[in-house]
Amino acid sequence: MKLERRLPPELTIVGVARREWDHDYFRAQMREGIEDYGGGLGREEIWQDFAKGLFYCSGDIDNPASYQKLKAFLGELDEQRGTRGNRLFYLAVAPRYFAEAMQQLGAANMLNDPRKQRLVIEKPFGTDLPSAQALNRVVRQVCPEEQVYRIDHYLGKETVQNLLVFRFANAIFEPLWNRQFVDHIQITVAETVGLEGRAGYYETAGALRDMVQNHLMQLFCLTVMEPPNSLDADSIRNEKVKVLQATRLANVEDLGLSAVRGQYSAGWMSGKSVPSYREEEGAAPGSTTPTYAALKLVIDNWRWKGVPIYLRTGKRMPKKVSEVAIQFKDVPFLMFQSATKQANPNVLAMRIQPDEGISMRFEVKTPGSSLRTRPVDMDFRYDSAFGQANTDAYARLLVDCMLKDQTLFTRGDEVEASWRILSPLLDVWDAPAPPEAVSLYEAGTWGPVESELLLNRDGRRWRRL
Ligand code: BG6
Repeated sequence: MKLERRLPPELTIVGVARREWDHDYFRAQMREGIEDYGGGLGREEIWQDFAKGLFYCSGDIDNPASYQKLKAFLGELDEQRGTRGNRLFYLAVAPRYFAEAMQQLGAANMLNDPRKQRLVIEKPFGTDLPSAQALNRVVRQVCPEEQVYRIDHYLGKETVQNLLVFRFANAIFEPLWNRQFVDHIQITVAETVGLEGRAGYYETAGALRDMVQNHLMQLFCLTVMEPPNSLDADSIRNEKVKVLQATRLANVEDLGLSAVRGQYSAGWMSGKSVPSYREEEGAAPGSTTPTYAALKLVIDNWRWKGVPIYLRTGKRMPKKVSEVAIQFKDVPFLMFQSATKQANPNVLAMRIQPDEGISMRFEVKTPGSSLRTRPVDMDFRYDSAFGQANTDAYARLLVDCMLKDQTLFTRGDEVEASWRILSPLLDVWDAPAPPEAVSLYEAGTWGPVESELLLNRDGRRWRRL
């Protein structure tokens, strides 16, 4: 962001953790981080300038004295760097410490100025509805909602924000965006990565908590919510909450008709053999943690009644691809012969990543004397239209937070509404179960066969991506 010159010169970052590092060591760590993950340093003098604002203050998360020490240090930095008491506390800590850290910040009076102090909380916010409610109670004890920024980095992705622009800045799609014209919607977030050494966290999370409750539900909300009155944070979040409140699993009595859980077994990824989930370091040998989840949701409102929304996400899939696809209804009567021997519905696919773009699939006449049809794609690609790299999602969100814009952050009631939808499933999937309770799929494939059945039962199938 420095290279885009979007940060004020006074910007000061203080790393806080248990280890006894000094400022220079912290700066060296940050330098390495930017080189490895932040797209490089730019010119050396730019880095030197930025590094002057980096500091470190060791402390324990549960020790009140550490917060007093930090508070005093931040006061000194205000004098030294002109930061005028503005604070953004970023809780990049293990989720089990969120409540502790918030309470300590509150007790140290470090969150009592709504104009100047903000709190950023990482995901996952809670592990189910009751724990999210409990965490929200702690939030309310320490500061008002206007100071709280719950991060979901998917909302910082350009293409995710574009869902709003696409829907509400164009007149031609919105009239079709409802039960009269849409057959169903598919939302896919597929990843090639496996556990990546995160067993400690992932074993307790699994795909529902790690991806569905947050990232997929955000894609879902932006796709199906009603038009907000304006772009201000609460107008948008009100609409998201409204649609979440109308949403449920397709069949709560028989969850097998609403959801499928899977876990990767050993397989091949890009020509290399990879171990099964249960063989990954830190995973239990009989683990039933799902690395794949497919869900069928329905929305009880006038716009969407009867239109199923299918969600799927998985690790160790054949490719990294995220998209939202709107499949329209078939034509009422097909008078042409189709080259593919079937009616091909129109599909609008919004590619979130990679190959960011939008494509519209429709039928055309194949050249020749007979009137045969074939589907083709009309394709918009970000890279060819704009030729520039997208801003990193986190960078975008952190700048928004500095600018006090909560639009792309989740509100307390929104997180709760999303957990509520998944509650019946969490109850069952969390219960102790034999290893075979979760369906296996070979690494490098598109998930367990059961997930195909979820759609086949409705006469539909997952898109081949
Ligand atoms: C994180 C999850 O929130 O999102 C990871 O914890 C996942 O498990 C990641 O890999 C995916 O993010 P992206 O931006 O690569 O799609």
